[in-house]
Amino acid sequence: MSKSSVDLKKLLSQMTIDEKIGQLVELNAEFFIKSASEVTGPATSFGFSEHGLSTIGSTLNFNGAREMRAIQAKHLENDRNKIPMLFAMDVIHGYKTLYPIPLSLGCSFDPELMKECCSMAASEASAAGVQLTFAPMLDFCREPRWGRVMETCGEDAYLNSVMGVAQVKGYQGDDLSEEGNIAASVKHLAAYGGAEGGRDYNTVELSEHILREFYLPAYKACIDAGAKLVMPSFNNLGGVPATANPWIMKKILREEWGYDGLVVSDYAALRELMNHGVTGSLKESAEVAFRNECDVEMMSGAYYKHLHELIDEGVFSEDELDRSVMRMLELKAELGLFDDPYHMASEEKERELFYCEKHREIARRAAEESAVLLKNNGVLPLSDKIKKIAVIGPFRDTGAINGFWTCCGDKNYAVTVTEGIREILPEAEIVGADGVSAKLGESSTDGIDEAVRLAESAEAVVLCVGEAQDYIGEARCIADITLSAPQRELVRRVCEANPNTAVLLFNGRPIVLTGIADVAPAMLEMFFPGTEGGRAAANLLFGRVNPSGKLSMSFPKHVGQIPVYYNRTMTGRPKRQGDDVFEGYTSSYMDCGILPLYFFGEGLSYTKFIYEEMSLDRREMGESDTLAVSVTVRNAGERAGKEVVQLYLRDLVSSTVRPVQELIAFEKIALEAGERRTVRFEISEPMLRLWNFENKFVSEKGDFLVSVGYADHMYFSEKFTLVK
Ligand code: NOJ
Repeated sequence: MSKSSVDLKKLLSQMTIDEKIGQLVELNAEFFIKSASEVTGPATSFGFSEHGLSTIGSTLNFNGAREMRAIQAKHLENDRNKIPMLFAMDVIHGYKTLYPIPLSLGCSFDPELMKECCSMAASEASAAGVQLTFAPMLDFCREPRWGRVMETCGEDAYLNSVMGVAQVKGYQGDDLSEEGNIAASVKHLAAYGGAEGGRDYNTVELSEHILREFYLPAYKACIDAGAKLVMPSFNNLGGVPATANPWIMKKILREEWGYDGLVVSDYAALRELMNHGVTGSLKESAEVAFRNECDVEMMSGAYYKHLHELIDEGVFSEDELDRSVMRMLELKAELGLFDDPYHMASEEKERELFYCEKHREIARRAAEESAVLLKNNGVLPLSDKIKKIAVIGPFRDTGAINGFWTCCGDKNYAVTVTEGIREILPEAEIVGADGVSAKLGESSTDGIDEAVRLAESAEAVVLCVGEAQDYIGEARCIADITLSAPQRELVRRVCEANPNTAVLLFNGRPIVLTGIADVAPAMLEMFFPGTEGGRAAANLLFGRVNPSGKLSMSFPKHVGQIPVYYNRTMTGRPKRQGDDVFEGYTSSYMDCGILPLYFFGEGLSYTKFIYEEMSLDRREMGESDTLAVSVTVRNAGERAGKEVVQLYLRDLVSSTVRPVQELIAFEKIALEAGERRTVRFEISEPMLRLWNFENKFVSEKGDFLVSVGYADHMYFSEKFTLVK
């Protein structure tokens, strides 16, 4: 595995216990920017000596190649063993050039594009000295109130797995030691997205079959794809915080999945074990975390202070210490750090890559492919002959459409919607006003009259509303995800004033659009599209690009419906709805039903796709067979476009209650006007498995229904039988 010229075993044998422990400590870069004697903040409070700091194995949150090189050079001068430090950052949707947040990129249903984006992010990050990103975030989530839902690829386990694997491949490439590749981290194991009430860091209580079938697959898929690191989650699962949870960290991760790589705790998670009340001291935290093979602790000081003592007391052996240290050294060797501790980071490379045209083109394409056209009564696409256009709303002319977890991306480099429109209509008069603010708690509607006046004066209006990007991301949870009242009023009044209005939505989670969805003539969901967001929006609005995204998460009609997701399980009291084959409606709400306003998998185009046929190559399959499903789609409109062909499965009779449908495959295809294409999917036995009451993944003989379409809108369904 190791590519290094250094003999790691020999190196390990020369290290003292304290030097080994240093490798298992990760600290913020601020610890290394000043010397320990100068530090009055965190370094002294954690009790690090100058010598202690020289042994530390990894750091996070530093600022670019120059700082990285300075820290590494100083470290190599001071560290007796000359072991390079590992440099980490949260690169989530780009380093400088930002592409759409993962929830949005999930809507592209395009894993190759995801891979391309992550590879681009890795090249910029690596130029800036990053060797490891804490991504992909793979927390399955059905909770739009949770601020971190933006980091997931939506509500479906399969889509999250496919997109997660694409992220790992994009970041890591084929060889970590090569320029532009960085290590990826699977996080947060496990089930962080299941927090009760969607409140960050909150308790998670799940049955094992839900955990196995929905929450764990994406982590496992990315570990199988070769991700180099795993981060445990903050939350407690079944009463035990993940970092201290032997069931998840030892039994599932190490024993069942055979993972032998590095585990790094989340930020200060070992200290938080005391807040959870499962340890009474930092020493106890060090003990439970290390017992569960959490190799490295981030920002708690627990191992630095107590691991040596625990070894002296015979609680842990030096062999156990060596096992964890070796994992860290192996990763450094794989990155080639013993040969080039800077991993080719340079300011020159930064200048060449940051916001370069090639990267902007990728970011733009990603934003275009991910936008979802939710409604269009014919207003879109807009004509490029327009002489006067009003661009209204709080997101009309701001770079604050990048989203959260922007790492180092700067909003001043983002193209705003107004700038994007200006490029398409260089001669036109563009007027604009915010009308209202998107801030939480803002109630003023004083600017609406002016916005209405501008709307009336223009041929067309682009109305940009949503939620401020500060309300998404870590610790940013919202109880009422309805579009704010002043913005709802702005939409109603402007749409009334000018029926040639298209609403652009900027948000980091599904939001409730009830009340505006019926009045808006057209709605295009942009989420937070990144650096090229405004240009992408303009290309979509004016039909230079045909929208092709499909929602990665359902949009509720009302907050009281949460959680609302397409693959709900069948109940004993289905409510019949005409001839719909999917009758398994769970008990409903009298006031708003159980169906969302917009479904997972839904999204319009400027052209029309007709599903002409679906056929199976056999009606019975054995365990070792594959069954082919062919679906023919025709572009019946007058423009070229892209369609995501989605294949769903329903197990008709089984030992556990199954979802009304589950996505098992998809393919995004491009069709010219009038073109017809047959897409072929293969179903194999592992795709039919469920987690049974004997705690095993098994397939059960019997009938299945395979369908093409999305959520509650299936075009064709056919039965087949698994024979055993
Ligand atoms: C806390 C977050 O939960 C985690 O995702 C992130 O990687 C670390 N902080 C480091 O920034």
